[in-house]
Amino acid sequence: MPLVSAKAMLEKAAAGGYAVAHININNLEWTKAVLLTAQKANSPVILGVSAGAAKYMGGYKTVVAMTRALLEDLNISVPVALHLDHGGFDDAVACINAGFSSVMFDGSHYPIDENIEKTRILRDACGVLGLSLEAEVGAIGGEEDGVLGGGELADPVECKRVADLGVDMLAAGIGNIHGKYPANWPGLNFDVLGKIHEAVGGKPLVLHGGTGIPDEMVRRAITLGVAKINVNTECQLAFQEATRAYIESGADQNGKGFDPRKLLAPGYEAICAKVLEKITLFGSAGKA
Ligand code: 13P
Repeated sequence: MPLVSAKAMLEKAAAGGYAVAHININNLEWTKAVLLTAQKANSPVILGVSAGAAKYMGGYKTVVAMTRALLEDLNISVPVALHLDHGGFDDAVACINAGFSSVMFDGSHYPIDENIEKTRILRDACGVLGLSLEAEVGAIGGEEDGVLGGGELADPVECKRVADLGVDMLAAGIGNIHGKYPANWPGLNFDVLGKIHEAVGGKPLVLHGGTGIPDEMVRRAITLGVAKINVNTECQLAFQEATRAYIESGADQNGKGFDPRKLLAPGYEAICAKVLEKITLFGSAGKA
């Protein structure tokens, strides 16, 4: 199946009471692991690509070409969206031109009127081309690929203004943070999430910083309109741990254990297991 917009899969998820996993990718192995796991689970999936990860892989066009070719060569039939994660305005335009099927414009660091103006321009472009658009209100805490956020609580009134532009999904700060949560993290703010959910009238909401949020908080967030959950760091940690274990066991020094296809295999398998765990928790298995 060719790349699809995330609009239909998220509307279906919001109506069905589950969420679609957005998994950030870093290279070919990562992409293949996510695609084959989603296919095995018969689940829709969103491949998230930050500007930094795209640069690492060669550029937006390389990412599009690689993903399209994998969809075809691996016979992937579940819905897959290729989505820019936390893009600036120019990144969003570059991804639209390169063939992404979905973009996030993160204008949360601008004053709200400027965020709305820039989001509106991109909404028009995405609307014409049939791409889905994610907007953000209230910066997500922590740091991701050089993009820093202050960890604000979004204002439900501002959320409604942005949702009313006709974006397809809305990321709103509710105390969530990119990367590992500190031991004294007070948890997601369900009071604010509930108010945002009410204000935006059923618009699919996006929960960033999926790494390390306790399962019961994830399930509760889904009941309050979260239809897309972003996970990045947890897959990186799973990859790191498995790769470290392989090297520390000395397996890379046995026979052809140095072959990159062998060296990267445990990390690859660890990503597959992590993605399956998330798809199962989010409730999207069997919903393709
Ligand atoms: P984590 O790295 O905390 O999982 O967050 C991912 C994310 O929100 C990507 O936008």
